[in-house]
Amino acid sequence: MIDETTVTALFEAALAARAHAYAPYSGFAVGAAVLTQDGAVHAGCNVENAAYPVGACAEAGAISAMAASGARKIAAVLVVADGEALCTPCGACRQRIREFAAPEALVIVAGPEGVRARFTLGALLPESFGPANLPDAAARD
Ligand code: THU
Repeated sequence: MIDETTVTALFEAALAARAHAYAPYSGFAVGAAVLTQDGAVHAGCNVENAAYPVGACAEAGAISAMAASGARKIAAVLVVADGEALCTPCGACRQRIREFAAPEALVIVAGPEGVRARFTLGALLPESFGPANLPDAAARD
């Protein structure tokens, strides 16, 4: 479970990061905030590139900030963007989240006015491939 005070903290962190989005090509600013299982919040924004495919999503930045802090377990992710359609994480970012999150982890989608929808990661990425598929891999907590 996640309390509403924590959802608000995630929203504010994502919104603040979104203000720094570097999106001169799409004009689509995105902010993301990750909640770790120990309660820390890490945020990121999208960072585009003149070589388009090199651009990075906001979720990727937030996950990198989390990893750099030493944390490895995601409890929830909140994404904030403008527009009528829900800004759910792209397919690649669903997999990035999956690396550090259980299917029960929350993915919260917001607009600048507040939270619009909540999903579990499992609903967005069913039957996913994850670390347990590689039991002998060296990459661990
Ligand atoms: N983008 C994100 O940062 N996160 C999402 O969940 C969806 C898309 C970015 C990538 C690109 O910079 C811009 O939004 C338009 O696709």
